[in-house]
Amino acid sequence: MKTTSSLAAGLWALGAFARNPLTPEKAVEDIKTQELQRNLWNFNKIARDNGGNRAFGLPGYEASSDYVLERAQTRFHTTMDTWKQYFNHTFTRINDISVTGPEGEDVVVIALTYNPATPAEGITAPLIDTPVDDARGSACFEDQWEGIDATGRLALVKRGACAISDKLKLASAHGALGVILYNNSPGNAITAATLGRENIGLLPPVGTIPLEVGTAWSARLRGGEELVVKLYVDAVFEDRETWNIISETKEGDPDNVIVLGAHLDSVQAGPGVNDDGSGSGALLEIMGSFKKYTGFKNKVRFIWWGAEESGLIGSLYYTSTLPEEEADKIRFYFNYDMIGSISPKFDVYQGRNPGDAYGAALLQEYLLEEGYPAQLAPFGTGSDYVGFINIGVPSSGLHTGTPPFDPCYHLACDGIDNINWDAYTANVKAAARAAAIFANDLSGVPPRSRTTPAKRDFASVRREFERWAAIAEEAEHGHSCGGEHGSKNTI
Ligand SMILES: *[C@@H]1O[C@H](CO)[C@@H](O)[C@H](O)[C@H]1NC(C)=O
Ligand SMILES: [Zn+2]
Repeated sequence: MKTTSSLAAGLWALGAFARNPLTPEKAVEDIKTQELQRNLWNFNKIARDNGGNRAFGLPGYEASSDYVLERAQTRFHTTMDTWKQYFNHTFTRINDISVTGPEGEDVVVIALTYNPATPAEGITAPLIDTPVDDARGSACFEDQWEGIDATGRLALVKRGACAISDKLKLASAHGALGVILYNNSPGNAITAATLGRENIGLLPPVGTIPLEVGTAWSARLRGGEELVVKLYVDAVFEDRETWNIISETKEGDPDNVIVLGAHLDSVQAGPGVNDDGSGSGALLEIMGSFKKYTGFKNKVRFIWWGAEESGLIGSLYYTSTLPEEEADKIRFYFNYDMIGSISPKFDVYQGRNPGDAYGAALLQEYLLEEGYPAQLAPFGTGSDYVGFINIGVPSSGLHTGTPPFDPCYHLACDGIDNINWDAYTANVKAAARAAAIFANDLSGVPPRSRTTPAKRDFASVRREFERWAAIAEEAEHGHSCGGEHGSKNTI
């Protein structure tokens, strides 16, 4: 008896040592500000070394991906299974734009989102005036083009009232090679707008210039002068391959999975340290904690999304191609996008799915206990939770806010100094704790709600995907505040 029991005790002790169980307390303890800083310092450096950003289709994204893989795949390969999920998306970038006036002068000009390119030599052509109609909008309707033959010319059109893309389509239909669009409010600070992703390939090139310049040219044309101007736009539109990075614990039940997501891409305009280096770094540190432990019940899957800033492309690709039975295994989704804003609010997402509250409560209770004013907030349409909500997976997440909470949102100044380290650390600890609790115990959390089974046939999933992809320009957390894709304005 004695021998047996001491052997059993010995085995038990060995087992206990080997198991080194994950507890919420250990997960919280493992998150260190210094390590979070190290990650964001690296993401900032990656951007600096790669043209100032970590955007989809550009080298900074690949370098960010290598940074995550060096840890997930190389260093942690004994405890994590890691792979890339590839997909294609249209890459667009405006490299250069210029308008040269009739006297050879350079004119102030801005490019619009999805601005088509001219031929490499530009378009040099006489201008043709179009009538101003500020009430209905100039050149917005077929009847306003009556008697205008713009063949071989650049059409001079005033901005306002209708979608710019409507003006461009009519100009093209009436023979114009391109459009010089003059602003409808004075000054050189011209507000950006988008031509709409759905119009790629359908529009002539356009240069948007100040009201004063356009008005003067229009007067000279009406006076009978011929004005030859040059429009030059260097823009890229092409499919590029990109990827999500998926890394999951070998430990845990594959039929009960908790997913933590953050997007790894930035906008082209800046390094994206808060948006969303903060979420990406959080996942790295939580992964670094969990891989030390064994014996937890449920699998934890970390996903770094690609092409979020282009319209949630990576996450929608993932959820829309996920087989039904795989979707059923995902028990909860946590989204971490912008969680270190410099003047933070502490939003905890909770939507209409009754399951959301289980995760939201864990995040909120920790932050409140630590003295942070965490408040429940509804989901918007601006981040990677959208796909998971669509397929009925209970979801939550944290968000510390766009302007005024983060004045560098989508700008070049979203660098290493754009983080509130105290708030960021608290949020990552909250995230680590919530994931650890669910890793051990999901009891009470309802399964995925399949309220919309009709949506799951391929055609409707595809439509849904297209619908969300079409909100590309407004994917930025429901805000419109400048930057690469910051404008929802189409007029
Ligand atoms: C992306 O497009 C390229 C070129 O058409 C193709 O070779 C590749 O297989 C595509 N990748 C995916 C993941 O669809
Ligand atoms: Zn973001």
